[in-house]
Amino acid sequence: MGTTSEQKIALLLLGTIWVLLGTCNAEFTPADNYLINCGSTVDVHVPGQGFFRADNSGSTILKSDHNVAANTLPDAVISSDNPVLYQTARIFSVPSSYSFNMKSRGRHFVRLHFFGFRYQSYDLAVAKFKVSTQDVVLLDNFTPPSNSSPLVREYSLNITEDKLILTFVPLGNSTSFINAIEVISVPDDLIRDSAQTVNPSGQYLGLTTQSFQTFYRINVGGREVTAANDTLSRSWDTDQNFFLNSTTTELFAYQAKLNYQKGAATKEDAPDSVYNTARRFAVQNRTSLVSNMTWQFDVDGSSSYLIRFHFCDIVSKAAYSLYFDIYVDGRLALENVDLSERVLGTLAVPYYMEFVLKSSDPSGKLSVGIGPSSLNNVAPDGILNGLEIMKMDISTGTVYVVWPPGTPNRKLAIILGTVLGGVGAVSIAIILCFVLRRKKKEKKPRRAPTSRPSSSWSPLTLNGLSFLSTGTRTTSRTTLTSGTNSDASYRIPFALLQVATKHFDEQMVVGVGGFGKVYKAVLQDSTKVAVKRGNQKSHQGLREFRTEIELLSGLRHRHLVSLIGYCDEQNEMILVYEYMEKGTLKSHLYGSDMPPLSWKKRVEICIGAARGLHYLHTGFAKSIIHRDVKSANILLDENLMAKVSDFGLSKTGPELDQTHVSTAVKGSFGYLDPEYYRRQKLTDKSDVYSFGVVLLEVICARPVIDPTLPRDMINLAEWAIKWQKRGELGQIVDQRIAGTIRPESLRKYGETVEKCLADYGVDRPTMGDVLWNLEFVLQLQEAGPDVSNVDSMNQISELPPDTRRMGSLEIGTADESPTNMDYSQMSTNDAFSQLMNTEGR
Ligand SMILES: *[C@@H]1O[C@H](CO)[C@@H](O)[C@H](O)[C@H]1NC(C)=O
Ligand SMILES: *[C@@H]1O[C@H](CO)[C@@H](O)[C@H](O)[C@H]1NC(C)=O
Ligand SMILES: *[C@@H]1O[C@H](CO)[C@@H](O)[C@H](O)[C@H]1NC(C)=O
Ligand SMILES: *[C@@H]1O[C@H](CO)[C@@H](O)[C@H](O)[C@H]1NC(C)=O
Ligand SMILES: *[C@@H]1O[C@H](CO)[C@@H](O)[C@H](O)[C@H]1NC(C)=O
Ligand SMILES: *[C@@H]1O[C@H](CO)[C@@H](O)[C@H](O)[C@H]1NC(C)=O
Repeated sequence: MGTTSEQKIALLLLGTIWVLLGTCNAEFTPADNYLINCGSTVDVHVPGQGFFRADNSGSTILKSDHNVAANTLPDAVISSDNPVLYQTARIFSVPSSYSFNMKSRGRHFVRLHFFGFRYQSYDLAVAKFKVSTQDVVLLDNFTPPSNSSPLVREYSLNITEDKLILTFVPLGNSTSFINAIEVISVPDDLIRDSAQTVNPSGQYLGLTTQSFQTFYRINVGGREVTAANDTLSRSWDTDQNFFLNSTTTELFAYQAKLNYQKGAATKEDAPDSVYNTARRFAVQNRTSLVSNMTWQFDVDGSSSYLIRFHFCDIVSKAAYSLYFDIYVDGRLALENVDLSERVLGTLAVPYYMEFVLKSSDPSGKLSVGIGPSSLNNVAPDGILNGLEIMKMDISTGTVYVVWPPGTPNRKLAIILGTVLGGVGAVSIAIILCFVLRRKKKEKKPRRAPTSRPSSSWSPLTLNGLSFLSTGTRTTSRTTLTSGTNSDASYRIPFALLQVATKHFDEQMVVGVGGFGKVYKAVLQDSTKVAVKRGNQKSHQGLREFRTEIELLSGLRHRHLVSLIGYCDEQNEMILVYEYMEKGTLKSHLYGSDMPPLSWKKRVEICIGAARGLHYLHTGFAKSIIHRDVKSANILLDENLMAKVSDFGLSKTGPELDQTHVSTAVKGSFGYLDPEYYRRQKLTDKSDVYSFGVVLLEVICARPVIDPTLPRDMINLAEWAIKWQKRGELGQIVDQRIAGTIRPESLRKYGETVEKCLADYGVDRPTMGDVLWNLEFVLQLQEAGPDVSNVDSMNQISELPPDTRRMGSLEIGTADESPTNMDYSQMSTNDAFSQLMNTEGR
């Protein structure tokens, strides 16, 4: 005993030194601090946070019904912290984005403010939309709650690029809107890399790269803390609605100064007002505790959460006298916690502990508790000061990005810089549907002088923030056609392409198709590109060429090969794409002497391609059907990352030339959806079928049609599916990698293929489901089976099919159509690609 108290004294002294060192923390100043009052012409001051800047130059303003006088706003809004932020909104009817230039990388809060009001014909409360950054889907299928109170969604993102682009994508024929945006740097160590996991107990690593959505932030036992009173403009709720009153407790408030300590929590982790209040077991009952203090929260079942407990021993008379247990989701997370031990015997030291709960109760309830320690020489006791619940792995869908002018993506930026001498960054115009619709309604002639200066049509920048929107969608809602030629800057001079391709030298040909040839080209700045030059065609072909440009320039996805520009001078029809260093997936599977790809790499490539296709199918109001999914249309960049393309491209010209000729009919035939063939009805499930065939190619590493083989083996899909149905897919796996595939991974893969190849489209999974299943295949390969994951993956793959599709656009190359099919309804042959609106069929 004697030694322990000596130790304690030593610790105490040490602690004092630490405290002295730790107290002189300078206040944190965020490097990035964007506060935007959307749709407004005026800056508004919000106490404690500063000015929310108007996001436009004064040409448009959209006010709510309630703006006649602020006091006619609903009570919920008036009583909100910043009612004035909710009086205006910006509405988008096409995908549009805000772009923020980031001064600092690392952890940031992104807060989105929504209040769905009615304005003229708009009922924002029924808007349905998606919001994503370049990397993370923040909201999908989102409709603001209709209880007429504002909603603030807060995200904690590790921003690694110099721009943050927030893209708002209306779904269906809806609109999207936003009332206010905050993008604020926070201290990088606000999120540390590791935390303890609950069930099974272990260590979670990799939190610093995670994106979180704040679900709950509670000042336990204390008052509500508003953004103005928080060190990082967070809001903290009271625990009233969450505390289960199963035991009697008392509330504590501490008046003296808190002892911030180095290595413990900082003022930025939570403000004083959180740490200086606590809830504790009531004195009378403490000797005979029969129940824990429990708080319960509604969450999304089957998600992961980072749960942070804030403690500060403001209740004890002496150190080393308070012991308690921590429960998460009904499980003991940490036993006999002694705060004094963690803060060197000092009282009133802010401290936090956090846990990762992998998969919560599917009922959607998450409970956390503090219970008495079971040590028999300590008094039953326990406190809690604050609690944060942050959802992890928030991004499920596919991101959609409307790139800002000048940097639609890095490659394009470089090329435009060189090619156009900086003349025009892509002039993407602001589309304010509000203005447009009103103009339409009023039928004002465009040329008539109006009060709205033309400057309202050009990109607008203030304080490094730019607001923009694409006008490149080919839907009926895109009314912006004249006035701003939104794709003009994608145009690349023919002379320049001549130089880049050495006058279309045959040596530079890397692929050939019915449409013409694909050349590798090097631009002046030594950027490599692929130049697809069409045979000079009919007027019809020209129209489709233009439509493809319009559609493709709106498509930006890391798993789709992007269009960099085009040239239509002198009747040319040339498309310029990013160059894919490693050629086609097909060339890595068979028919070349490239080293075999590992199983993991193959699955990763399939996942990438599935993401690209999933984005085509669901990223737009109208789904886009690729129509020519095959291993030759999946290209690999220098890191072997897959991108779906719509044209064949290979590194070795003659070889591809040959391949192309011999597979022009049969090749595509091997991928063709039998239902599509029978009924000539095209759906996105046709792509799923073709993708299933690609999956077989990937695992068997043989051509989809190989006439040199015995009759029953010629068609890969027919042959392989027989093996799969017998449960013997393992027998026909690429021999070079067969031994490396884990049986569970193989089984899941086989099942996925089988589902994709179902006879009827309705029985096939969506691309999204396929994606999930492939991710699971990868997980099984890497980690082996994990029962808790099996459940969640199954749940995910059984989500109902996407129902919000309104029609579809298709895109694909037509040059390899089977000759015996009637394509008259669909397109003419030999165009660059077909693109049509299938709504009318
Ligand atoms: C657009 O939405 C309205 C309901 O708001 C619906 O009645 C209408 O059918 C939709 N139009 C299309 C083309 O989906
Ligand atoms: C952000 O993520 C990168 C890796 O993508 C990591 O290196 C960096 O440390 C992270 N930053 C913070 C502040 O967590
Ligand atoms: C919040 O700050 C205001 C003034 O800035 C102050 O009057 C108020 O008491 C503070 N509230 C809390 C809970 O600290
Ligand atoms: C619940 O809490 C209230 C005070 O908030 C208290 O008056 C009441 O007695 C509690 N009920 C139980 C069952 O402990
Ligand atoms: C002690 O706790 C029990 C339930 O846990 C409650 O019924 C009882 O009223 C409490 N006693 C006092 C004195 O608060
Ligand atoms: C606290 O909760 C845990 C888990 O639900 C339970 O096992 C334990 O008995 C509880 N303790 C008390 C004192 O109620």
